[in-house]
Amino acid sequence: MLPAPMPFRIATEADRPVIEALISRSVHGLMSADYSHDQLEAARRHIFGVDGELLADRTYWVCEHGGTLVAAGGWSRRRSLFGGDQSVGGRSVGALLDPAHEPARIRAFFVDPAFARRGLGRALLSLCEQEAARAGFQALELVATLSGVGLYAAAGFTLVERFEVMLPPGVEFPVVRMARRISPG
Ligand SMILES: CC(C)(COP(=O)(O)OP(=O)(O)OC[C@H]1O[C@@H](n2cnc3c(N)ncnc32)[C@H](O)[C@@H]1OP(=O)(O)O)[C@@H](O)C(=O)NCCC(=O)NCCS
Repeated sequence: MLPAPMPFRIATEADRPVIEALISRSVHGLMSADYSHDQLEAARRHIFGVDGELLADRTYWVCEHGGTLVAAGGWSRRRSLFGGDQSVGGRSVGALLDPAHEPARIRAFFVDPAFARRGLGRALLSLCEQEAARAGFQALELVATLSGVGLYAAAGFTLVERFEVMLPPGVEFPVVRMARRISPG
């Protein structure tokens, strides 16, 4: 059993290798029902990865269990909607959002397949919402994988648009932009 409340802590640069390993486990273990092998390979190479800005901003969180990283995810006060440091799209380095008029971003949620559907994603989302609200944001926005839509829909996010990210070498990767207001405290 996982202890409650979930022991999330802020991630640091030192966590980068274990976060990258978690992302690989999560992508290959939890996304293959929604995407082809080629789509996942291209996305792992060109989209999914650690975003150093979130680490520097201290807005990326991890959860460990028995010495292993079992979940990671965060929120952002910056314009980028998705993508790690290596990403070809979705990045707008350094640009800060205006909390009064723009939604905070929910970013890069990954759960270990062995710990899926135990409430880690929901707990992390709730933590990110609290932190974004504390920073003055009134809404949240994200770009979900098809595998992530269920979590965000269950948490009250609604569809803004569906679109495809074009990845080298010409692989289309469908995603869903979603948003919701932050519940008043
Ligand atoms: C998406 C993800 C983060 C969800 O994490 P999780 O810890 O398994 O989610 P939770 O256990 O907190 O789920 C909370 C609720 O969300 C919904 N939900 C979560 N995963 C779902 C799925 N695969 N299909 C349908 N609904 C789902 C359910 O309503 C669930 O409640 P329930 O288990 O009581 O039915 C995880 O599946 C994952 O890492 N996927 C691969 C990477 C990815 O696609 N990340 C999203 C990037 S945008």
